[in-house]
Amino acid sequence: MGKVALAAKVSHVPSIYLSELDGPRKGSRQAAIDGFKEIGRRCRELGVDTIVVFDTHWLVNASYHINCAAHFKGLYTSNELPHFISNMDFEFPGNPQLGRLLAEEACDFGVETLAHDATTLQPEYGTLVPMRYMNADLHFKVISVSALCTVHYLNDSARLGWAMRQAIEQHYDGTVAFLASGSLSHRFAQNGLAPEFAQKIWSPFLETLDHRVIEMWQAGDWATFCEMLPEYAAKGHGEGFMHDTAMLVGALGWSEYAGRAEVVTPYFGASGTGQINAVFPVTAQTGRAIPAAQASAAAGYQAYSRA
Ligand SMILES: [Fe+2]
Repeated sequence: MGKVALAAKVSHVPSIYLSELDGPRKGSRQAAIDGFKEIGRRCRELGVDTIVVFDTHWLVNASYHINCAAHFKGLYTSNELPHFISNMDFEFPGNPQLGRLLAEEACDFGVETLAHDATTLQPEYGTLVPMRYMNADLHFKVISVSALCTVHYLNDSARLGWAMRQAIEQHYDGTVAFLASGSLSHRFAQNGLAPEFAQKIWSPFLETLDHRVIEMWQAGDWATFCEMLPEYAAKGHGEGFMHDTAMLVGALGWSEYAGRAEVVTPYFGASGTGQINAVFPVTAQTGRAIPAAQASAAAGYQAYSRA
């Protein structure tokens, strides 16, 4: 029925917003903004109606959650970096119907997921920053998915991504894009050193690690990447423990995926962290490599597998 037409790993660093504003950072993130606009342009060209964002700034301590309110509008100030994002306005439509479908299918796949369509919860800036540039005209509906998962298995996040793809392909009448909104390595500069590291990566180790990972993505070496993801997330200080990446790669077929990443905004440093905008081609998949539901198994429940 439906289709996942585009998948991408994207940045959302607050300095992208500062880049718009008058001041010393003006213009400094134009490459990231141009990358967002290009991904938005491609989504339009592909007929995408809804963008689902795996947001590494939405912290959850139990289960997975989907914010699928009918409409979002407001002013946002970041509690993490209020001097970077303050009173940023946002507005876009939501998609309650698709949000409920995604949650239902994830639960069927053994990954407990709750859809919130009647909520006052507003999206975090992992969703708001890319949407500001991809969706300024409110063209796309937007769904935000929790991806700062504090006590979750990466395998469950991979399975969640796959379940969401199945929900769209089998039950949704429309076209969807998936965005994993999070960094590569994510070691913020030590307090007091942020200005010095505004455009740099925290350490040569992390920068080298990120470059090697990008090479794997560009070569389509997902078997190696999936195997190293838990260790990369830990040693690379992964943003949201890299659950956004597990969800995206899960949706693409996990270790069976062989697509080659296309870098839209080249790798850049931001306050010590490693950032990129990259598109991953969506290819036909069997689902054979999708991990079993780990939390359910750990809890002693029968994992229900349809993959
Ligand atoms: Fe972030």
